[in-house]
Amino acid sequence: MFQSIVFVFRSSVLQTSAGGKKIVGVFYQASEYADKNPNFVGCVEGALGIRSWLESNGHHYIVTDDKEGLDSELEKHIEDMHVLITTPFHPAYVTAERIKKAKNLELVLTAGIGSDHIDLLAAAAARLTGRADAHLDSAQELLPGYQQVVQGEWNVAGIAHRAYDLEGKTVGTVGAGRIGRLLLQRLKPFNCNLLYHDRIQINPELEKEIGAIFEEDLDVMLPKCDVIVINTPLTEKTRGMFNKEKIAKMKKGVIIVNNARGAIMDTQAVADACSSGYIAGYGGDVWFPQPAPKDHPWRYMPNHAMTPHTSGTTIDAQLRYASGVKDMLDRYFKGEDFPTENYIVKEGELAGQYK
Ligand SMILES: NC(=O)c1ccc[n+]([C@@H]2O[C@H](COP(=O)([O-])OP(=O)(O)OC[C@H]3O[C@@H](n4cnc5c(N)ncnc54)[C@H](O)[C@@H]3O)[C@@H](O)[C@H]2O)c1
Repeated sequence: MFQSIVFVFRSSVLQTSAGGKKIVGVFYQASEYADKNPNFVGCVEGALGIRSWLESNGHHYIVTDDKEGLDSELEKHIEDMHVLITTPFHPAYVTAERIKKAKNLELVLTAGIGSDHIDLLAAAAARLTGRADAHLDSAQELLPGYQQVVQGEWNVAGIAHRAYDLEGKTVGTVGAGRIGRLLLQRLKPFNCNLLYHDRIQINPELEKEIGAIFEEDLDVMLPKCDVIVINTPLTEKTRGMFNKEKIAKMKKGVIIVNNARGAIMDTQAVADACSSGYIAGYGGDVWFPQPAPKDHPWRYMPNHAMTPHTSGTTIDAQLRYASGVKDMLDRYFKGEDFPTENYIVKEGELAGQYK
């Protein structure tokens, strides 16, 4: 799985003035795990490993996990912070109200992939500018056998009655950007029938190399798939896209892997379809909201293989996005431009894939 860094900053920032900036980082708390690895930098305690660098350059760096509500630590700093750094694993939701209140905000960096915790339309309206870049991580697994083992059971039939080969099955990805394409490339040796739906067709050479067939119409692809993998960003078009009606277009017994964002699904429709057995398996690590509340229906629905949002949190990934954040901050302090392909919102305009 990928991660990226999303940067959002006011268009005037490239002419940014010198001087100390107020930088707020919102990460998860590591508590007793904080000291277990010196490279564990993606948490409050690790603070991306950039504290001494920032402070020695005269900047003020505040780090917290307290992000929700008007009494939160984050809220206290919104009005005068210049930079906000957050991760998709413990996202600081940058709402239209917060953007309005954040009079000094010049740059928002996301250590990880995705900008959906930022109200991009409000960011565009406020003429903020944003950007992203990418790298690689690992896959999800289903866990019923593990559960049997830890519960003292041994019940092969309990698993075998609904276990299938991947070989020969039809796997479709909704979204074939960086992650969707890698998924298709990796599935090729499993001899699956590979389909993909995207707004943009992959170039013919790569399409041939991957061996995947383009499905322009999502509703035509859905009933063909034994496995559907969701790899689109969360946008105004994809929010709640997989509702009761869309799920009904899928094959009964479909397996869904949602790598992208929880809010692309209608939460209750997924829980109902898992309960009825229409969806035979639902897996992923993305929820809405995050952290998922204790009563989130996906925690309790049958046939799921959900984990907390942990993909992209390997120590290697943390070092990559910490270094990416540092590089972007460095360019920002120097008033330098960023590569065009990484913009998400630029001078009031959303990048194509977010429209
Ligand atoms: N679970 C995780 O830890 C994790 C990690 C990385 C990324 N993600 C999520 O995965 C998403 C995809 O990542 P990526 O790096 O492949 O992004 P990407 O921008 O490279 O690819 C997204 C693809 O989706 C397509 N798309 C956008 N809107 C669409 C629509 N309405 N219908 C069909 N296709 C549409 C785009 O054309 C593009 O090809 C990210 O936006 C992020 O939300 C999750």
